[in-house]
Formats: sequence, C-alpha cells, structure tokens
Amino acid sequence: MHPETASRVRQSWALILPQRKTVCRDFYHRLFVRYPELRPLFKGEIGEQADLFVTMINTVISALEHPERVRPLIETLGGRHADYGVHPEDYAKFEQVLIETLREALGDELDAEAQAAWREVFEALTQTMQVGAAR
Ligand code: HEM
Repeated sequence: MHPETASRVRQSWALILPQRKTVCRDFYHRLFVRYPELRPLFKGEIGEQADLFVTMINTVISALEHPERVRPLIETLGGRHADYGVHPEDYAKFEQVLIETLREALGDELDAEAQAAWREVFEALTQTMQVGAAR
C-alpha cells in the first residue's frame, strides 16, 4: 500500500480509538437495522465482539506496508467467518456501514481521500478473508 494511503488510514483510526466504544455500538446498531438478517449470526455479546474487531483492525493497520505478515492470520479469520455463516455478499454490507459510521464519527476529518483509503484497506481485507473462507 502506498505510504500516503497508509498514513491517511492511521490518522483517521487514531481519531476513532478514543471513541471506539461509541463508534462500535453505532456500527453494529446501523448494521442490524439495515441488514436484520445478519443479527442472528452473532451469538456472543456485542461489546466483546466489538473489542475483538478493534484489536483485529489495529493489527491490520500496523501491517499496511507488510500485508504478507498478517495474511495467514486474516485467511484463518476468513475461514472462521465462513463457519459463522457469513456469505461473500455480506462483506459489501459490512463495508458500506463501516464507511458510513466512520463518516458520521469523523465528519469533515474523513475526506474523500481518507474514505478511498479505507475502502482500499477493506477490500484487501475482504479478499484475503475470502481466500481463507473458500478453503
Ligand atoms: C472484513 C472485516 C472483518 C473483520 C476484521 C472481522 C473481525 C472479527 C473478529 C476479530 C471476530 C472475533 C471472532 C474471531 O476472531 O473469529 C469476528 C467475529 C464475527 N464476525 Fe467478523 N469481521 C469482519 C467481517 C465480518 C462480516 C462481513 C460479517 C458478516 C456479518 C461478520 C460477522 C461476524 C460474526 C457473526 C462473528 C461471530 C460473533 C459471535 O458469534 O458472537 N464479520 N469478526
């Protein structure tokens, strides 16, 4: 990934971290209102789920310049998602709601370039997870 893209993602994520609990609550709320069919896939407590999600994004963001270092981890994550009952088409729903949530949380701080940078990260993540899911 281009260093400038990586730096845009890191800058906006740094603004999210202090408000991650609220942002995650808002994210899952939006996701389940928009796509109620996804709600039953989640069996655990959503607060705990949100913490795991944030930890995983931290890991991904720490390796934007070296995606090969996290590829095996992300493929395995994708395999587990297939077991949770997540379908390939669900990733686009997730991405759409995630970008919307970031935009809501960051307002003008998330400009068009930052949004495009997040999409790039998310699309790479999705691709790698789906490689793992297909195995
Ligand atoms: C693309 C980026 C995604 C990341 C980084 C991510 C991350 C995680 C993590 C870290 C967990 C904790 C359990 C584990 O490690 O296996 C998890 C669980 C889960 N994720 Fe994701 N996820 C992503 C996409 C999705 C999508 C698109 C869906 C579709 C609805 C989804 C649904 C779930 C479900 C149902 C669980 C299990 C929760 C439970 O049983 O309570 N995830 N995810």
